Amino acid sequence: MRIDVVSIFPEYLAPLELSLIGKARQDGLLDLNVHDLRDFTTDRHRTVDDTPYGGGAGMVMKPEPWAQALTAIAEVGPKAPGTEAVRKPVLIVPSPAGERFSQAIAHELAEEEQLVFACGRYEGIDERVLEWAAEHFTVRPMSLGDYVLNGGEVAVLAMVEAVGRLLPGVVGNPESLVEESHSDGLLEYPVYTKPSSWRDREVPAVLLSGNHGKIAQWRRHEQYRRTAERRPDLLDVFDAGKLPRADRTAFGELGYDVVDGRLRRRPDA
Ligand code: ADE
Repeated sequence: MRIDVVSIFPEYLAPLELSLIGKARQDGLLDLNVHDLRDFTTDRHRTVDDTPYGGGAGMVMKPEPWAQALTAIAEVGPKAPGTEAVRKPVLIVPSPAGERFSQAIAHELAEEEQLVFACGRYEGIDERVLEWAAEHFTVRPMSLGDYVLNGGEVAVLAMVEAVGRLLPGVVGNPESLVEESHSDGLLEYPVYTKPSSWRDREVPAVLLSGNHGKIAQWRRHEQYRRTAERRPDLLDVFDAGKLPRADRTAFGELGYDVVDGRLRRRPDA
């Protein structure tokens, strides 16, 4: 996969040289390029912003440097051998006004040939850039969550890591991608390591039992308990149609009934 990131603070993206993503780049699994938006300006001051039409606080990013940067990047993108590019690159514009990023979207993006991240600063990028870019890119404004960051760079670090670790060969043991939070619509179960007794706290006995069936069941029930406590919204869309009886009982104890394949919280619970 090829990833291009455009920012006025390219140094902000330095952590992408570290750890698993840095190693994936070294190993040639990920071709990641960071570009300075100011390199695509033409004036002496390398200006990237101007005052907003209609008034209001803050500055808006000018369209032309973005068009220059994105045109240059689209032209050097990966092409299928001997043919025209088969897929448009995906242009991800981090913004609190975007679609909510999720593990499901990370999986979708991991299937693409090229991702381009456009890091806005100030009040954002002139909206016409997104309209214009739709000719060359699949444009996806994307939010990490309902809070406001100073710019897109931190969001890009998060999204590149979430997508990059799904690429084949990046995570050493692919099994670890299977049993993790959000892989099955639930939060992950709690984990423990040695020593089995630490500061008067014991590891749950079932994990020392060697009974793999019981361990798997305990872990599943812990996922249900944790998700009900911390993220009950995830249970609204959880497919409970094929749950074994013991799991229905576990949900019953947490105050949920299964109705038409969905979990429904009992009003008295
Ligand atoms: N830029 C500013 N805030 C953001 C957010 N919540 N998600 C993604 N990009 C952002």
